Amino acid sequence: MDNTHIPGTSVSLPDKVRDTLRPAAASLPESGIIELVNYGREKKDLIPLWVGEGDQPTASFICDAATQALNDGQTYYTWQRGIPPLRQALADYYQRHFQVQTGPERIIVTGSGMQGMMEALQATVGAGDEVVVVSPVWPNIYACVHMQQATARSVPLRQSDQGWTLDMDELVSLCNAKTKAIYINSPGNPSGWMMSEEQMLALRDFARARGLWILSDEVYGKFSYEKRAISSFLQICSEDDQLIVCNSFSKNWAMTGWRVGWVVIPPSLGQVFENLVQYNTSGVPEFLQRGCVAAAEQGDELLKEQIARATAGREIVSRELARVSSVVFTPPAGAFYLFFRVEGEPDCVALAKRLVDSANVGVAPGSAFGLGGTGFLRICFLASESTLVEAMRRLVKTLGG
Ligand SMILES: Cc1ncc(COP(=O)(O)O)c(C=O)c1O
Repeated sequence: MDNTHIPGTSVSLPDKVRDTLRPAAASLPESGIIELVNYGREKKDLIPLWVGEGDQPTASFICDAATQALNDGQTYYTWQRGIPPLRQALADYYQRHFQVQTGPERIIVTGSGMQGMMEALQATVGAGDEVVVVSPVWPNIYACVHMQQATARSVPLRQSDQGWTLDMDELVSLCNAKTKAIYINSPGNPSGWMMSEEQMLALRDFARARGLWILSDEVYGKFSYEKRAISSFLQICSEDDQLIVCNSFSKNWAMTGWRVGWVVIPPSLGQVFENLVQYNTSGVPEFLQRGCVAAAEQGDELLKEQIARATAGREIVSRELARVSSVVFTPPAGAFYLFFRVEGEPDCVALAKRLVDSANVGVAPGSAFGLGGTGFLRICFLASESTLVEAMRRLVKTLGG
């Protein structure tokens, strides 16, 4: 298995144009999820469960705060690191939800979780470096590493009756002199895997001993179906460890379209990240940040509702798919996706297209998520009960339950 494979479809360009471009940009692939979305986009009454977002719009108390800020004229250049009340509100969020004190000075507001991860890589990884990535995973990480002219090496999770598990020895064996960072997404998209507490501690110690960065993507950090004491690397690392935590407003508070996220960094990197923000975007619009303050300060109840919605969705999807004898899955430990395969159906792109054609349900093909994903399908279950029940009725019928 090629552990440096970048999932997605290559872009066709005239040679004359390709030759004028930076190879790392010209060779970026189209997302395998979007390929499916494009395939089914025009279908009437299709139930879309293929992208990573819920079906609820952003709550009005958040929208109102942003609108108010716009009407108040908050339309100027703003703080590169994020407005002080938002950085304080996020520090308070970590104190309330994870019992960790980050302090506002370690928090940098970014234009989405996606951009936070890109800036984390811009800060730590360059041409010729390697990043070890636990896969299958959110495919954008591969493209982010590739844009840095670095190589992502995947260590695949394995599925068994116990759920998805990581072999730490395999991860360690992929680290070599070129390795600069290890990317962990726990709870994970698309598998729902959660790194065990023992493995988190072991990884922290290994990274310390080898001088490696841990890039911890914790955008699903609150969506956990397990009782556990440790779920964020912030809970086990000291502020000077080589740790960058990436997070987002998208998933917690139903704000995917806002494109606001944040990173938690060691205190010594404040100016480095301020510079990266300055030269990438020069900051996140202040009126959006005012909406985010409302989300972080007053959004605990909403977050609870989101988690309850995901918990109910997980039940429905697991219960209904269990009716199909050829479907193989383990209920996810975290995040809001169910990742399953169908025996006798190795071509997941063909199967996902068939489900669009015959069931009128959109799911994402596992091959879009890199090594270990081929053969699987991903359903996003952060949706209303009625939507999920109807989607599952159609899927079960088509899959032969
Ligand atoms: C694991 C993971 N990280 C980061 C992101 C990016 O989130 P956003 O850019 O919407 O903040 C996503 C989005 O699906 C994701 O699944």
